[in-house]
Amino acid sequence: MQYIGNPDRKIEYMADIHCISANDAEAFSALRREVTRENPIAMGLTYEEELTRTLDGFQAQLSFSQPNIMFGSFIEGELVATAAVGLTSRFPSSRHKMLMWGVFTSPRYRRRGLSRQVVESAIQHAFSNGVHRINLQVYVPNEPAIALYKSVGFVECGVEPEAIYINDRYHDGVHMTLVEA
Ligand SMILES: CC(C)(COP(=O)(O)OP(=O)(O)OC[C@H]1O[C@@H](n2cnc3c(N)ncnc32)[C@H](O)[C@@H]1OP(=O)(O)O)[C@@H](O)C(=O)NCCC(=O)NCCS
Repeated sequence: MQYIGNPDRKIEYMADIHCISANDAEAFSALRREVTRENPIAMGLTYEEELTRTLDGFQAQLSFSQPNIMFGSFIEGELVATAAVGLTSRFPSSRHKMLMWGVFTSPRYRRRGLSRQVVESAIQHAFSNGVHRINLQVYVPNEPAIALYKSVGFVECGVEPEAIYINDRYHDGVHMTLVEA
């Protein structure tokens, strides 16, 4: 448990960080819907597309086998932030790297350090499990996410042009990478 201060509102939250599983599928879907409604480009799909995703699909997505994992941050029992890392292939040739995904925080709890905590937990987990590089992609513009990743050591390493098409516009995907120190 850790206190997350909000200096503006003078409120302190008790954030409980632990791994999430298929049992959290409903909470994960609710959080995704809340975030996607506000930040569709960041999430890489429209709110209407998100609404078509099924609970079965999320249960399957959250049925992790080691070392794949997702960390969740809970405030008063509610899932409010997540970050995951997963291998990109079952073969040894790709065993040195993981993909970071599923990084988002409820709009009601931003700028309290919740994302940094779950992201750092996921990085630590990856580097403790024989992985020495973590990659991710950010659909832009997304200054908050780029700043978050840079603050924990990621660097930009390329761009996928026109990675997604949302609201009549193409958005590039910026690739970022982090190597174990
Ligand atoms: C990006 C996001 C995950 C950040 O979550 P958060 O819990 O608010 O982030 P934190 O409070 O842990 O912030 C950690 C650091 O990220 C950076 N950051 C976060 N929000 C920022 C903002 N609005 N503007 C600039 N920098 C920001 C800062 O460096 C911050 O450190 P600081 O508060 O000490 O300055 C959140 O804004 C979000 O869910 N956005 C929509 C989904 C998304 O973009 N996900 C990433 C997809 S790749």
